[in-house]
Amino acid sequence: MNGRFTIEQGDITTYAVDAIVNAANTTLLGGGGVDGAIHRAAGPDLLAECRTLHGCDTGEAKITGGYRLPARYVVHTPGPIWHGGTHGEPQLLENSYRNSLTAAWNAGCRTMAFPSISTGVYRFPLDQAAHIAVRTILDFLREHPEMNRVTMVCFDSRTRRAYESAYQKLR
Ligand code: APR
Repeated sequence: MNGRFTIEQGDITTYAVDAIVNAANTTLLGGGGVDGAIHRAAGPDLLAECRTLHGCDTGEAKITGGYRLPARYVVHTPGPIWHGGTHGEPQLLENSYRNSLTAAWNAGCRTMAFPSISTGVYRFPLDQAAHIAVRTILDFLREHPEMNRVTMVCFDSRTRRAYESAYQKLR
């Protein structure tokens, strides 16, 4: 398992994997944070394709091309906005990870990179999000031995430490 799940600090737009995951919103029409970075790096054709998708429900995932990105595909998933934890947020976050993994798998992807979904603008508590993310990814890797590598790309050291801590408990 070790080699197939990795936690790194970096910029997900630089990852030359089969699919990177975008922490989008339900319009799929771009935004700030990692969504903004991915659209800037991919170029205008990404937005043009996103317009044809007519949005995406929270926890669901839709796949597009990667355009100018080094990644072949982008999987867009709106994570849940944190409203205190009593509005199904944990399950919706798990859905975002699982549905993104499934969408990429079904498109033939065997290497993927995730950002830390919902822990920025959407204010999902980082440690709880990291636990859900790592548990869901590890479960999927156990169920899909042919998925070669999933990388959690953390934008800062605080996020990286949270994911490393979650992984130590779940491995
Ligand atoms: N590479 C990897 N991670 C990044 C990058 C990047 N280039 N830029 C930001 N991040 C990290 C943030 O530091 C945070 O840890 O992605 C994580 C998710 O934060 P957000 O991008 O704010 O996403 P989220 O909390 O899911 O909120 C989504 O924000 O940008 C809008 O359109 C988006 O409305 C949606 C909302």
